[in-house]
Amino acid sequence: MNYDKIDKKARKILQENDRGLYTVPTKGLYPYQWNWDSAFAAWGFSTHDPRRAWAEIETLFTGQWDNGMVPHIVFHKQAIGYFPGPDIWNVERVPHTSGITQPPIAATMARAVYEADKHYGRVHMELMYGRLVSWHRWFVKYRLHEGMVVITHPWESGRDNAVDWDAALANVDGSNVGEYHRRDIDHVDPAMRPKKEDYDRYLALVQFNRDCGYDEDHIRDHGPFRVADVGMTFLFLRACRDLLHIAVELDHGVDEIEGWIKTLKQGVERHWNPERGHYDSVDVRTGAFTNSLSSASFLCWFAGIKDDRMLAHYDRIVGQVGFGIPSNDPKDPHFNHLRYWRGPVWGMVNALIGIGLAETGHTVHAERLRKQTQKLIAEHGFWEYFSPLDGAPAGGPQFTWTAAIWLTWASPHAKGRF
Ligand code: GLC
Repeated sequence: MNYDKIDKKARKILQENDRGLYTVPTKGLYPYQWNWDSAFAAWGFSTHDPRRAWAEIETLFTGQWDNGMVPHIVFHKQAIGYFPGPDIWNVERVPHTSGITQPPIAATMARAVYEADKHYGRVHMELMYGRLVSWHRWFVKYRLHEGMVVITHPWESGRDNAVDWDAALANVDGSNVGEYHRRDIDHVDPAMRPKKEDYDRYLALVQFNRDCGYDEDHIRDHGPFRVADVGMTFLFLRACRDLLHIAVELDHGVDEIEGWIKTLKQGVERHWNPERGHYDSVDVRTGAFTNSLSSASFLCWFAGIKDDRMLAHYDRIVGQVGFGIPSNDPKDPHFNHLRYWRGPVWGMVNALIGIGLAETGHTVHAERLRKQTQKLIAEHGFWEYFSPLDGAPAGGPQFTWTAAIWLTWASPHAKGRF
């Protein structure tokens, strides 16, 4: 295998998806700047172009709202072929944005970019610090429930149609959303995307949030969907730890961030589903666990939780499939190896799990996961996601975050860690 060639190809994908100061996840299917995709892109750029890495993060934050929220999409310029676009979200600011957020990994990736070149990065880190803090404050003010991070729309999780949301989504009435034309299935086989009944409900939630003017207090009290997402809690805890590290480095106060970390650690305990014996999401409206063992449950190590209880699940699952941790437990009756977040394996989730494993001392597991992801991408290409059964490519091709994690983690030439 010619890994130099594959490294080159990964850099080329970042270049081709580069729109100047931000990167699209992939051409066609996703023509705007997505929040956590961009954070991964910045990490990818940090391997060879620190200037461009910082530009990626700084451009993302041009979409930051006055209340601190960083939206899941920034619509820098109108693109045809995407739905729901800026007209549907109807957010009155420039650049236009969506009205919901996404996994807050920007602090983590900003730290990685900074560590890659501290001398150059110092002034950028200083600039970003306050903006990162205000996004984290927004989460703490509006989105913590018993120390767990709550989402008000499945798209906020980054795992759009995961099994975790099924029961809570059943509470959402999607029958009045009117006619619309989905664009995602113009680009990708419908069997690899969420179903129509899910999409109706996603739109109903967009309309609910929009029609109350994105009033978080109103959404908390009356919104039909409110789930504490185990993935969000782990990623936010990790991001708070990285922010704390940055605060120390830049000589800022640490008490507030330390308080958040303490609260989030309590939230992590609340996420433990004792009956099923794994970390799980919680439907805040009913208090019930979602009973879903997804790839997000394995982000515990990335959050710095030294917990060996998840290892037995890990070993069972990777013993069954060959390419890392699939987005849903293969023994779950809803498992579907090609349908998006209901079974496929995603390279960037493998990367986060692998880094977490390495950092918590599970080095053999970590290295095996890295090798498996390396083989997957080297043999099948830089796809959005893959079948965990045979590695068959799925979703969109030439994907930014798959290229990014190749350069930072999966390639034999990558440093493999932060
Ligand atoms: C899908 C994914 C989400 C990602 C976006 C752009 O909506 O579920 O995680 O950010 O595509 O790649």
